Amino acid sequence: MREDSRYLTFALGKGRLAEHTLELLESIGITCEEMKDKSSRKLIFVNEELKLKFFLSKNPDVPTYVEYGAADIGVVGSDIIREENKRVYEVLDLGFGKCRMCVCGPKEAGILLQHHEMIRVASKYPNITKDYFYNKKHQTVDIIKLNGSVELGPIVKLADVIVDIVETGSTLRENGLCILEEVCPISARMIVNRVSMQMEADRIRKIIGMLREKIS
Ligand code: PRP
Repeated sequence: MREDSRYLTFALGKGRLAEHTLELLESIGITCEEMKDKSSRKLIFVNEELKLKFFLSKNPDVPTYVEYGAADIGVVGSDIIREENKRVYEVLDLGFGKCRMCVCGPKEAGILLQHHEMIRVASKYPNITKDYFYNKKHQTVDIIKLNGSVELGPIVKLADVIVDIVETGSTLRENGLCILEEVCPISARMIVNRVSMQMEADRIRKIIGMLREKIS
């Protein structure tokens, strides 16, 4: 590594995705010992030797940090990338964090999806929901933004159906709901700032190449 290299900064979505990402990075020799100390309240971690910095953020903020260049590289789910629609390069499907974005609801609500009826759809993902219903299904719907526990929507009659992530399907099952339609598959992706991709092309391409080899 050149003495005068600037730091490359990674923004990682908090939670399971970050844990998986750190394991994957470690497997290609990129480590950050500081980050393993769970009791630490530090927000940014440095590997001086490799000139790398890492920080954790809320998942929906990862594309924002990368778009503005506060982070050169980000790792986040494709659901967030599609919902946030930021100007970043999506360079690699990391193959983990696999789940599906689906329209879900009580079984009886299936009929409401077949006749272009005006229905209420609750979701944490209003942009994905709008794109799916307006552009793909040509169905005008009333979209209600929620911030979590979206499955409550149909149960308390706030909405007819929801658009949400299904991983194991247990949240749906335990609440008497089911998948009505599939919107798209989801997995963790690596994104890169557009200027960094030019300015730090060698270092970033090398990391992408090593990761690609590791996951193939
Ligand atoms: C996600 C998603 C579903 C659940 C799906 O919620 O919104 O509710 O996981 O997983 P499953 O198919 O394995 O049951 P999350 O746990 O992120 O919390 P949230 O409801 O507060 O968004």
